[in-house]
Amino acid sequence: MLELRNITAGYDTGTVLRDVSIVVPDNAVVALLGPNGAGKTTLLRVASGLLKPYSGQILIDGQDVTGQAPYKLSRKGIIHVPEGRGIFPSLTVADNILLQSPAGDYRKSYKTATATFPRLGERARQIAGTMSGGEQQMLALSHAYVANPNVVLLDEVSMGLAPKIVEEIFEYLTDLGRQGVAQLLVEQYVGQALKMADYVYILDRGRISFAGEPGEISEEKIMNSYLGSLAS
Ligand SMILES: Nc1ncnc2c1ncn2[C@@H]1O[C@H](COP(=O)(O)OP(=O)(O)OP(=O)(O)O)[C@@H](O)[C@H]1O
Ligand SMILES: [Mg+2]
Repeated sequence: MLELRNITAGYDTGTVLRDVSIVVPDNAVVALLGPNGAGKTTLLRVASGLLKPYSGQILIDGQDVTGQAPYKLSRKGIIHVPEGRGIFPSLTVADNILLQSPAGDYRKSYKTATATFPRLGERARQIAGTMSGGEQQMLALSHAYVANPNVVLLDEVSMGLAPKIVEEIFEYLTDLGRQGVAQLLVEQYVGQALKMADYVYILDRGRISFAGEPGEISEEKIMNSYLGSLAS
């Protein structure tokens, strides 16, 4: 279980997150929704250790890991698929998979990645940045398959993709869920995210404005909340 407790965090330009607490239980899909600039990406950065919070704690299975480097958290099973893909565009597909792979596991990782995403096998020697957007996103997602994570942090993995590819990406996320990988899912496709999620948090200007189950809130209400506040 991943838990962020009373997180306050930001950048030198100012505080972004104020006293944010979320829980990602084992095997659960947790949707983190909210308007542009609410602090969703910032929260994922805190969860993966990329950004140190001003205050608050990060706990993995109850163990306090606040302040630990990203590579340490990734060894503890937290994998971040960042906004804008997070692949190495000037390296080949095969080399990207190598870098996603746990030490010593490359062969197995390559097999897993290419069995899951056959396209990656066909394009193994291609420079990753020259693949189509959908193919690059599959390469980014293969990280979540090869690294054997407990929790994967997914930051708008459907961004900028054609509807058919978006559907395909959501099928992969559903499949990951079936494999027991917990997900903290930041998504602009609110309807799709609600369909998949066990729990939903809405972040509004750096604070949690709703926490509950998908059945407790409608897509319409969420979309309206993006325009004003949930209370209005
Ligand atoms: N590296 C940074 N340095 C300074 N300010 C930043 C940095 N990254 C984000 N911010 C600011 O923090 C706030 C929250 O940004 P964040 O990227 O977390 O929002 P978001 O909810 O992910 O938005 P979006 O839906 O547009 O991706 C914004 O005001 C943004 O300008
Ligand atoms: Mg973002």
